[in-house]
Amino acid sequence: MFNKTLGIDPKLYEYLKLVSVREPSILKELRQETANYPMARMQIAPEQGQLMALLVQLMGAKKTLELGVFRGYSSLAVALALPDEGTVIACDISQEYTTIARHYWDKAKVSHKIDLRIAPALETLDKLIAEGQGNTFDFAFIDADKSNYDNYYEQVLKLVRPGGLIAIDNVLWGGKIVDENIKDNRTQKMRALNEKIYNDSRVNISLIPIADGLTLLLKR
Ligand SMILES: C[S@@+](CC[C@H](N)C(=O)[O-])C[C@H]1O[C@@H](n2cnc3c(N)ncnc32)[C@H](O)[C@@H]1O
Repeated sequence: MFNKTLGIDPKLYEYLKLVSVREPSILKELRQETANYPMARMQIAPEQGQLMALLVQLMGAKKTLELGVFRGYSSLAVALALPDEGTVIACDISQEYTTIARHYWDKAKVSHKIDLRIAPALETLDKLIAEGQGNTFDFAFIDADKSNYDNYYEQVLKLVRPGGLIAIDNVLWGGKIVDENIKDNRTQKMRALNEKIYNDSRVNISLIPIADGLTLLLKR
């Protein structure tokens, strides 16, 4: 996992941020507070948060889904970009991580847009499908445990509306994706999912080499 764009010359990366990343002060504060926290690398990069916010605004998205909240950076970036009646159903299993997320959502005055579901994300997705919420989400961000990514992809495809957008994080997996010597379960599963999506006629695809790799999918 990388909380900055990988594979780019450091000087060029600083320039990219200098001339393009307009990180809202509340997100900057959360990122700085998380920097010294164990697992800080799990947090998405500021340029990725900004891209997701821009996409949500571009689409006029209102109903969104997030799998993997951690300390709330990506959900906050999206919630800030949503209209006042917009919603993020935010899924995580950790009370500890999400306590700080709640604090920042409150501080940013977007708590009313975020519906936090503490449960394994697959259970929450199954429930949403059972409730008849299939084909109703405009945007979904997949960033929870990698071993379940394929299951998340299939469930999220049911929930997002035709013409809606799915963003899948960490698809370049710190570069391990192309290292033939690395054969652990999570890396193999990420490779398999990337190949499956490439051949999947249910979606249009673009893999953006931002942060740790973000695949964008338009549901046909
Ligand atoms: C990479 S972090 C998410 C980072 C977050 N999007 C951000 O911007 O900071 C992954 C999160 O997935 C959560 N997670 C792990 N297994 C999960 C599961 N089965 N269901 C839901 N969330 C899970 C972890 O608790 C962790 O907070």
